[in-house]
Amino acid sequence: MFIRNGALVISSRVKKKFKWHGSLRLYLFVLFLLLGTIPINFMHRILTTSLLDQQLQSRMNDIQYQVNTLSQQILKAGYLDDPGNTVINAELSQLSDIYDGRVLVVDKTFRIIKDTYNADEGKTLIAEEVISCFKGQTKRVYNDVCQYVMISMPVYDTEAKNVLGAIVVTTSTKMEEGTITAINRKMQVLESMVVFIVFVISLVLASVLVRPFRKIENAIYQASEGDMELIEAEDYLETKRIAEAYNKTLTRLNTLDQSRQEFVSNVSHELKTPITSIRVLADSLMTMEDAPVELYREFMSDISDEIDRESSIIEDLLTMVRLDKSNTELQVKQVNINELLELILKRLTPIAEKRDIELTLESFRPVIADIDEVKLTLALSNLVENAIKYNREEGWVRVTLNADHKFLYVKVQDNGVGIPEDAQQRIFERFYRVDKARSRETGGTGLGLAITKSIIQLHHGAIKVYSKQDEGTTFTVRIPLIYIA
Ligand SMILES: Nc1ncnc2c1ncn2[C@@H]1O[C@H](COP(=O)(O)OP(=O)(O)O)[C@@H](O)[C@H]1O
Ligand SMILES: [Mg+2]
Repeated sequence: MFIRNGALVISSRVKKKFKWHGSLRLYLFVLFLLLGTIPINFMHRILTTSLLDQQLQSRMNDIQYQVNTLSQQILKAGYLDDPGNTVINAELSQLSDIYDGRVLVVDKTFRIIKDTYNADEGKTLIAEEVISCFKGQTKRVYNDVCQYVMISMPVYDTEAKNVLGAIVVTTSTKMEEGTITAINRKMQVLESMVVFIVFVISLVLASVLVRPFRKIENAIYQASEGDMELIEAEDYLETKRIAEAYNKTLTRLNTLDQSRQEFVSNVSHELKTPITSIRVLADSLMTMEDAPVELYREFMSDISDEIDRESSIIEDLLTMVRLDKSNTELQVKQVNINELLELILKRLTPIAEKRDIELTLESFRPVIADIDEVKLTLALSNLVENAIKYNREEGWVRVTLNADHKFLYVKVQDNGVGIPEDAQQRIFERFYRVDKARSRETGGTGLGLAITKSIIQLHHGAIKVYSKQDEGTTFTVRIPLIYIA
């Protein structure tokens, strides 16, 4: 199962193993939704609570003001001693009516002398609020569960020193809360609308913001189908960077593909050349009637040479392919490099002698290094062989070996034909030869230096060439003494 965007991926192979793939679009959507709705909800809450608070405060202020006036009248009329005063009683009833509440008047002995509900007159009221009043405190209590407010105020004597009694007003807050509930309901409708609008906007915005990434995704998908084109995604810095990295990879792949094609066509061409020669030789022999035996011999010897050439190309190609494999493993062991070079020179001396070329080896110190003996022998042999091949009669080839605590250095120097400046960059390319005819004459395939370079790179080493046309060439090789895989 595979659901994209906010996706739950259940691999069919690894059953019951869930992996959550967060989708950027989903994250953005949730973020926008929260950013859009939380402040509204927050505001709603603050608004309703402060509105309720303000209404309650205003009502309590009103009541307190009324009670204050009343307590002065109570004092003047001596109501605390004579609760039969009709004027005051009427005032108290009015107060109770206006605020839809209950008014209690308590005297010094905590006895209820007036209850507008006529329920508890004559009873003693020892409540916290009343006690506070006798300590000179005015109390306001709001009970949101039972939905009422209670205000208790002391009644002072004329000098405002002694508390003579207390007035306790209890009134329901149902009306205020009802108003708030109504407002709340309207706000909720409004809030739902806002949430809906924010939902839609978030959905659209998240999709729009993620679109450039989809563009890249599509381009890469198309590339995987074979339609490889460079991407342009300048929308964001991030997409621009992804596109740049992708384009770089694509360009590299294209270059690789191109060089592969070039290589294949080179290989076919190189392999065909000797075969064409063989065919020409054979054909001309066949068309000739009564050809002398000497001519046969000569042609057959040419054919044999071409066969040799074909097999050396195939051999070099096979060597290259083996080195090219990404998992090529070196058979590394400790090897005495002085001895290795001596052996190479000994083997090549006959070719050098044929052309009267002086071949010398100079070792500055004994060198032992971790290398692949067979491969490095091939690499260095190629260099010395080239120095002999591309030399003049009575020329010289000097091989030197040196080392420091980290590397060994081999220098192969000759005073041969040299390499033109513009060709120096290309001699390590497969099949590249400065002078095709000369290389052919000496049995070269054009793969020697490519093989040498691969081997040196496998040893984490480096090779450089210095050359001047008609004066000579120097190849320097540097290889670490210790091989680290
Ligand atoms: N020591 C050298 N002096 C002059 N030219 C050289 C030397 N070594 C290599 N070259 C040039 O580099 C080309 C590539 O060398 P290489 O890869 O060994 O191929 P080849 O099979 O032709 O020897 C040679 O064809 C030659 O033109
Ligand atoms: Mg060569």
